[in-house]
Amino acid sequence: MQQNNVRPETMARITTPELAAAFIEEQVREVRAQVGDKQVLLALSGGVDSSVVAALLIKAIGKQLVSVHVNHGLMRKGESEQVIEVFRNGLDANLIYVDATDRFLDLLAGEADPEKKRKIIGNEFIKVFDEEAGKLSGISFLAQGTIYPDILESHGVKAHHNVGGLPEDMEMELVEPLKLLYKDEVRVVGKALGLPDEMVFRQPFPGPGLGVRCLGAITRDRLHALREADAILREEFDKCGLAGKVWQYFVAVPDFKSVGVRDNKRYEGWPAIIRAVNTVDAMTATIEEIPYDVLHRITERITHEVEGINRVLLDLTPKPIGTIEWE
Ligand code: XMP
Repeated sequence: MQQNNVRPETMARITTPELAAAFIEEQVREVRAQVGDKQVLLALSGGVDSSVVAALLIKAIGKQLVSVHVNHGLMRKGESEQVIEVFRNGLDANLIYVDATDRFLDLLAGEADPEKKRKIIGNEFIKVFDEEAGKLSGISFLAQGTIYPDILESHGVKAHHNVGGLPEDMEMELVEPLKLLYKDEVRVVGKALGLPDEMVFRQPFPGPGLGVRCLGAITRDRLHALREADAILREEFDKCGLAGKVWQYFVAVPDFKSVGVRDNKRYEGWPAIIRAVNTVDAMTATIEEIPYDVLHRITERITHEVEGINRVLLDLTPKPIGTIEWE
């Protein structure tokens, strides 16, 4: 049962828990009618869209939904753990967790070209997902977190995890319960389904993850430093209320060192670059003016708590001329 891909003009914008509940009820009915007693496969990245699809489908068909979470080793601190906590422990999901960190990092070793890095990550993601799908039998449906802007912008094909397409030879019928919703509606539905705020109001995160923020050829020690520094930035933004206000904020760590001193000894380390931007559509962006006391606290913490980092820099460049990401 394939609904059509045009949002009817009469469809009310979902802005309240009541409207969300009505939408959920309707979708639960439709999904059950579409899939019957068959199994449905979903790539669950932990982003807003795939998380809301997962919660909705769990409500509709329970363990008939098989969610696969591939940890490519480029997630932010705690993200894969949260997916497991919320879905396996909280919602009793049929969740396959694949820690593919070594596969990705081994393939990426020595590769400094940003577009090649993206390609490696995208291709490997499909391979891992495909391998997991191949181990299962009797799966006839593929769920996707397609939302209405994806349909408007890319003719209905959601670039999977935004890092590439799904295997073309997967002959499965699509289940796309969110495909007529705008992002703000997806969040209202996610809240109504009981997902935690950190998941529902998550800032955008690129599919290649920390891979495009660990600049140049990725090494495990620098990736670790980046992840820890990024976690401190997020913690401090949470504490001072900036987290709910700034559209996207993160740390990037370049692959060069400068000299410093720690414990009266020469201490060479990488700089951590802070970027915090506001935008409506990511086409242009302005800089958030982070108060200096917050910057001082973040600098103090990162330089003292993160092994390998000895300076903190602030990126003041709007887009254009700088893109949001560094790679
Ligand atoms: P730029 O860097 O082009 O980023 O100003 C605009 C928005 O897109 C995100 N971004 C990506 N998202 N895969 C993604 O899924 C990517 O390769 C990618 N590169 C950038 C970026 O985080 C920002 O929100």
